[in-house]
Amino acid sequence: MTAEPVFIDFAVRHASTIDTYPAEVLARLEADAAVIIARYPSPRSALLPLLHLAQSEEGYISPSGIGFCAEQLGLTPAEVTAVSTFYSMYRRRETGDYLVGVCTNTLCAVMGGDEILAHLSEYLGVGPGGTTADGTITLEHIECNAACDYAPVVMVNWEFFDNQTPRSGRDLVDALRSGEQVTPTRGAPLCTFRETARILAGFADTRPGASDAALPGDATLAGLRIARELDMQAPSVNASGDAAGPDDQQAAAETTADKPAPAPDATAPPRSGSPETTPHGEGV
Ligand code: FES
Repeated sequence: MTAEPVFIDFAVRHASTIDTYPAEVLARLEADAAVIIARYPSPRSALLPLLHLAQSEEGYISPSGIGFCAEQLGLTPAEVTAVSTFYSMYRRRETGDYLVGVCTNTLCAVMGGDEILAHLSEYLGVGPGGTTADGTITLEHIECNAACDYAPVVMVNWEFFDNQTPRSGRDLVDALRSGEQVTPTRGAPLCTFRETARILAGFADTRPGASDAALPGDATLAGLRIARELDMQAPSVNASGDAAGPDDQQAAAETTADKPAPAPDATAPPRSGSPETTPHGEGV
């Protein structure tokens, strides 16, 4: 009698985990991936742009996208998943044509960001993370995008809309849903979320004005202008981490001039249990 092998299923495997792209899509993405990978000395270094490429196909990082990236780069699906879930720009759920993000971090919140998000949520009939039934808008709240000088800020497909209000936010989503060409406060006219993902993957951005240099605006430069008018200078930081006054700076400069830097552990006490504190012959 021949022994039959016995297989034990330890977990339910979701059908989507073994999804792959259709052959035509796979061939197209493989050609694109080859272009991206060739830009890096090591294939695995291309993971971030390759994830954007996968996101450009389905609007989020799907199981097919995870498998594709892993296959192309010689990584495991777990490694690709770990990276894709670390960065918030990689979406785990399907995304509308326009990802409308309302900043609700501290400064934008106190300047009205919370009201904008609440208003848009009610107006669109979706909560943060939701997508409108027509598939045009995905609404979400976002963390600070370093545009606090123009708070409150709304981002659409990562492009800035400065100094927003509930009313201007409503006009913005109306324009997007009606198919109008919308231009952000800074940057080129918007394209769809998937087209944006392809640009982020490293392919040409052909939007008019996309390559124009962006100059800092008045609000960004206000602090610098005032500092110059008042002849203000940032204090330097001394070795203890405290801000140093002018006398301290002068003294520190004279003391350290032409001296070699101390060894990293020159002042550190020996660690307990190390050979420096444990007598010979005793166990550690
Ligand atoms: S707090 Fe909104 S951009 Fe910084």
